[in-house]
Amino acid sequence: MLAITLLVLCAVGTQALDNGLARTPPMGWLIWERFRCNTNCKLDPNNCVSEKLVKEMADRMVEDGYKDVGYEYVNLDDCWSDKERDAQGRLQADPDRFPSGIKSLADYIHSRGLKMGIYGDYGTKTCAGYPGSLGHLQTDAQTFADWGIDMLKLDGCNSNVTTMKKGYPEMTKYLNATGRPILFSCSWPDYERAAKIPINYTLVADNCNIWRNYDDINDSWGSITGIIDYYDKTQDTLVPAAGPGHFNDPDMIVVGDQGINVNQANAQMAMWSIFAAPLLMSNDLRNIQPVYRDILQNKEVIRINQDPAGKMGKRVLTLGPKVDVWLRHLNPWETYAIVFLSQDTRPRTVSLKLEQLGLTYGFGYQLRDVINHKFIGYWTPGESHNYTMPATGVLMIYAYGNE
Ligand code: GLA
Repeated sequence: MLAITLLVLCAVGTQALDNGLARTPPMGWLIWERFRCNTNCKLDPNNCVSEKLVKEMADRMVEDGYKDVGYEYVNLDDCWSDKERDAQGRLQADPDRFPSGIKSLADYIHSRGLKMGIYGDYGTKTCAGYPGSLGHLQTDAQTFADWGIDMLKLDGCNSNVTTMKKGYPEMTKYLNATGRPILFSCSWPDYERAAKIPINYTLVADNCNIWRNYDDINDSWGSITGIIDYYDKTQDTLVPAAGPGHFNDPDMIVVGDQGINVNQANAQMAMWSIFAAPLLMSNDLRNIQPVYRDILQNKEVIRINQDPAGKMGKRVLTLGPKVDVWLRHLNPWETYAIVFLSQDTRPRTVSLKLEQLGLTYGFGYQLRDVINHKFIGYWTPGESHNYTMPATGVLMIYAYGNE
């Protein structure tokens, strides 16, 4: 009897996110890294945070092939709103930069077959000083649902971090209550990490579809490797937290921006795919070189990212200075993604037996280079082979058990 009562109490107490979203990592575009809080439309009409910019990105996503390979969300970030709430206490868009309002922008994005994301903050103000949701969580959840929003990133600036374990799940409850499936992106664990508060990833995964754990990305190789190194150090905690419906978010994809080269761009896509991470590009899709577009649209890499088992990969070996091997188990059994990641500034070759990675299937594996779209070979677990990585880049392999 006691057990049943406890079970019922637990069930009542659980307000887990039940939107059915993010069964595989979400893909889309997010304004922040590339366009920041550029609100000066007089000076820079084509690049300021505005409905015009967002519509242009939605158009590019459809017309330039991104939607066809799976990119779906078109997301605002900070600095979209007015500095004041409206007379009913609701958030409202900046009237000069979003003259048609957010609902109409969401309608436009939906009419293109895409989904729309928005940004809020759990504290009194957003990181850039716009109105926060503290004391308005329920109203804001309802407003976003009324507008037809499909994803919410809830940041954590200007708040008491010790209350997040209660406050973020409260927002989960309000989002559930709207009845609209809204993918919930939480910045909560990142703020707890920074405040040295222990992170309960079970609770996070119960309440959020994706969550940030580390510093903001910027358009540089140093920033990308900083994030990879953090994921490496904490993988024993992060890997078990991820799965269909709930994924770690190492932040935006900066491929197509101006700070990283082709090898580094392939490396970011490869590593974010090993991580089972969201692929949220932050770039200017109106102005992107074909080589970067091809990297963003590499179907073989995206297929690994979107593997239905939703398992996050991990570093399994370090082979000398600055060369690591990462492995992600894919569906079905005996199918893997392997990434040889080199942070060296010259090309490197290493020698390895597949069995060193735990690939011991007796009939051997077929190996494909998914970046250069080439068959590599059919190798058994005990043979030594050479693997070459470009300078600051990856060799990424799809390995499947020989039938
Ligand atoms: C924080 C977040 C970033 C971005 C900015 C906006 O720094 O981590 O991703 O949303 O706020 O001000």
